[in-house]
Amino acid sequence: MSARLIPVDPFDLVVFGGTGDLAMRKLLPGLYHRDCDEQLAPESRIIAVSRSEIGRKAYIDEVEAAVRRYTPEDQIQAPVLDRFLRRLDHVALDATGTAGWKRLASLLHRNGKTNKVRVFYLATMPSLFGPIAQSLASHELITPESRVVLEKPIGRDLASARAINDAVGAVFEEEQIFRIDHYLGKETVQNLLALRFANALFEPLWNSAHIDHVQITVAESLGVEGRAGYYDTSGALRDMVQNHMLQLLCLVAMEPPFTFDADAVRDEKLKILKALKPIGPAEAATHTVRGQYQAGAVGGQPVPGYLTELERPFSPTETFVVLKAEVQNWRWAGVPFYLRTGKRMMERQSEIIIHFKAVPHSIFGEASGKLVANRLVVRLQPDEAVRFFLMTKDPGPGGMRLRNVPLNLAFADAFNVRYPDAYERLLMDVVRGNATLFMRKDEVEAAWMWIEPILASWEARNEAPKPYTAGSWGPSAAIALIERDNRNWHEDAE
Ligand code: BG6
Repeated sequence: MSARLIPVDPFDLVVFGGTGDLAMRKLLPGLYHRDCDEQLAPESRIIAVSRSEIGRKAYIDEVEAAVRRYTPEDQIQAPVLDRFLRRLDHVALDATGTAGWKRLASLLHRNGKTNKVRVFYLATMPSLFGPIAQSLASHELITPESRVVLEKPIGRDLASARAINDAVGAVFEEEQIFRIDHYLGKETVQNLLALRFANALFEPLWNSAHIDHVQITVAESLGVEGRAGYYDTSGALRDMVQNHMLQLLCLVAMEPPFTFDADAVRDEKLKILKALKPIGPAEAATHTVRGQYQAGAVGGQPVPGYLTELERPFSPTETFVVLKAEVQNWRWAGVPFYLRTGKRMMERQSEIIIHFKAVPHSIFGEASGKLVANRLVVRLQPDEAVRFFLMTKDPGPGGMRLRNVPLNLAFADAFNVRYPDAYERLLMDVVRGNATLFMRKDEVEAAWMWIEPILASWEARNEAPKPYTAGSWGPSAAIALIERDNRNWHEDAE
């Protein structure tokens, strides 16, 4: 089946942080792709907002360079790129002051009808979310057809997340607030839902009677790049686990929603977040590992350690974390979910692995080889695929020799379509007003409620993160954690 594009209504998209890395790397190239797909109405406009007085012309030049840099050359269509650039404008504005707001208002009013969809995308520091929302209200820019998108991180703990939710909620209705987690826009993540709820095969097996444990790994080969300042105040637990990894866990663990709409799906995810067993001081030593990368080599290239990138002699911040999570409900009792994420690991690899239980008894002798329990591997990155590892008979003579091989559905080979970036799909969902793949206020807060005691326990223990060599799979303690349970981290090559 080929891709089908559902048109979206004309919109005005205002990007706060419009000259920032996210806008240049993801949002604008993503919108350009949708323009190529003829999904954007002629009257749709994009207004970038930032502090600097760079002017429209210079801004457009910057965006053109960014689109060319982040788009494969054969996907650059000069006439579409011209049309796309004509949609852009830039406003220099002080988010916490008064300068620039009138100009923004006049651009929006010039853009016509008040029932045109307005999207305010806040890709700024979270501390500005509340003040920007307030100013949008006081300048009367919020129409019934307006929506606001909040980039992560939404706060750095429960109290700050609540303060943001309250401040934004004071001027926008919850239905107008889109808390983005770009992992939910990844094709394979949505495929996980298709796999679970559009096939009869898995659901009867999707429980503690048949599943031994689940592993979720999000490994990155990159370091903190130019973001060391932000990252050092955050760390892997806040940056990756509180949002992306817990969202993945929720999609694996949730009950079938009665329908695929925003509240039905989010109600089920929320129940999982609430059912997570707290990890407090008593469990921190056995259920968590924190690490920090040291100099090493990734893909044969030498890379510096975290502290060198940070230009400081010491930092307590973790760049790697492993957690053993447990969902305390009827379906999942006794099934651990091992979460692992880190920067500067051996390779970029994100996978969800469902380890089924072993067969109760082997009828085959030792000569047949070891029986390996079935595994379903949902691979998000770098290539999108689903693999189901099964025991099969090795072909040819030589008796009953068994081998563990994957049934392989590599999407790039199976479907001849361009794989859109997660942000593209999510931006179009915002315009459509479809919040199914966005986080609701109570979800964000429930996730922080589970994360906070882990942070507090680490603080109380006051231990430095365990060093690991860049280009490895993390500190040895991460291997020991899972081996204590007689299990291993999944390796595809087994
Ligand atoms: C972001 C984190 O949310 O996700 C980054 O802040 C991380 O630190 C990124 O690198 C990973 O996203 P992706 O899509 O490259 O896996």
